[in-house]
Amino acid sequence: ALEMPAFIATKVSQYSCQRKTTLNNYNKKFTDAFEVMAENYEFKENEIFCLEFLRAASLLKSLPFSVTRMKDIQGLPCVGDQVRDIIEEIIEEGESSRVNEVLNDERYKAFKQFTSVFGVGVKTSEKWYRMGLRTVEEVKADKTLKLSKMQKAGLLYYEDLVSCVSKAEADAVSLIVKNTVCTFLPDALVTITGGFRRGKNIGHDIDFLITNPGPREDDELLHKVIDLWKKQGLLLYCDIIESTFVKEQLPSRKVDAMDHFQKCFAILKLYQPRVDNSTCNTSEQLEMAEVKDWKAIRVDLVITPFEQYPYALLGWTGSRQFGRDLRRYAAHERKMILDNHGLYDRRKLINHFEYIVQ
Ligand code: CTP
Ligand code: MN
Ligand code: MN
Ligand code: MN
Repeated sequence: ALEMPAFIATKVSQYSCQRKTTLNNYNKKFTDAFEVMAENYEFKENEIFCLEFLRAASLLKSLPFSVTRMKDIQGLPCVGDQVRDIIEEIIEEGESSRVNEVLNDERYKAFKQFTSVFGVGVKTSEKWYRMGLRTVEEVKADKTLKLSKMQKAGLLYYEDLVSCVSKAEADAVSLIVKNTVCTFLPDALVTITGGFRRGKNIGHDIDFLITNPGPREDDELLHKVIDLWKKQGLLLYCDIIESTFVKEQLPSRKVDAMDHFQKCFAILKLYQPRVDNSTCNTSEQLEMAEVKDWKAIRVDLVITPFEQYPYALLGWTGSRQFGRDLRRYAAHERKMILDNHGLYDRRKLINHFEYIVQ
C-alpha cells in the first residue's frame, strides 16, 4: 500500500471512470458495510441513498491504502454524513451498529433471500413479504403462488444458481458458446464481458457479447444457437428478447436504462463429471454415480451490430457503477450522451431535446 504522503485526497475524482481501481480492496470491511446499506435502500426503493452508499463503496475500493483514521478520508469526494458516521463507527468499534441492525432486520433478510432467486426483484419480494413469506423454502413450499416462467426456473435450479460461478466454469462455458456460435458464423467475435472481463474469479452469471465483423448481420444467429442447445439437451431455460433498436431513436437519459440489443437470459446445463475418488469402488458408491453430474449456470448472451460493438463492450464490461459514472461524466463534463449503442453529441440533437423538454 502507498504511504499517505504520496496520496492527495483532493485529487481523487468523484467519477469512478476517472479512478484507477484494482481487484485489491484494502477497505473491504467498510465497503461490505456500505453495500449492505445500499442493498437495504434498494429494497426500500430509496435510489438516492442507495447510490450514495454505492458511490462510497466504489470510492473506498479505489484507495491504495486501508483507512484507519478519520483523517484518512479527509477531502475525499463521495463521503457524505451517513457514510462518514459508519466509517467512524467501524474505526472505533470494529463494526457498525447501523449495519448490524440492517443485517438482523426481518424485512432485509427476507428480501435478501427472495432477490437471490433468478427472476425475482424488489416488487415480487414486497408481495411475498406482505403475504407473510420469509424464506425461499417457504416460497418453494407455497403451491398457491403464481410464478413467472423465469421464477419457476429460478426456484428449480436455486441451489446451483446461488453457488457462485468459478473462473474454470466460465472458461468451460466460454468454449461452448464460442464453438456453437462459430458453427453458424465462423468469423463471429465472441467476448466474455461482465465481472469475468474485469478479472474477477467468481461471478453470479457469465456474460457474452457476440458480433459479426463486417456489414453482414444475422438476426437468426441467437435463435440458431438456442435451438442447437435445446437439441443437445443443454438448455434449461431461456428468454429471448428481440432487438428494439431504432436508429432515429434518442439515447435514453436514464441512469440504468436497459439497452436495445437482441439478447437472451439463459440457464445452461454444464456437465462436470465428478472426479473419481480412488475409494469409490463399492457397489453402493457405484450407484452413487447416478448423482447429478451437471450444474445449472446463468448465461447472458448479447448480439450487437459490429459498429456498436465498442459501446456495448464498454457497457457490458461494467462494473455497474463504472458505467453509471461514465454516463454521468459524459453528460456533465462533456455535454455528451453515452449509452450501450453509441456516444452522441448533444449539440447535434438539439431539436430532439426541444421535443423532450415539452
Ligand atoms: N448491463 C448492461 N445492460 C443490461 C444489463 C447489464 O449494460 N441490460 C451491464 C451491467 O451494468 C454490468 C454488466 O453489464 O456492468 C454485467 O452485468 P451483470 O452480469 O449483472 O454484473 P457483473 O458485473 O457481471 O457481476 P456478476 O458477477 O454479479 O454477474
Ligand atoms: Mn455478470
Ligand atoms: Mn449479477
Ligand atoms: Mn449478467
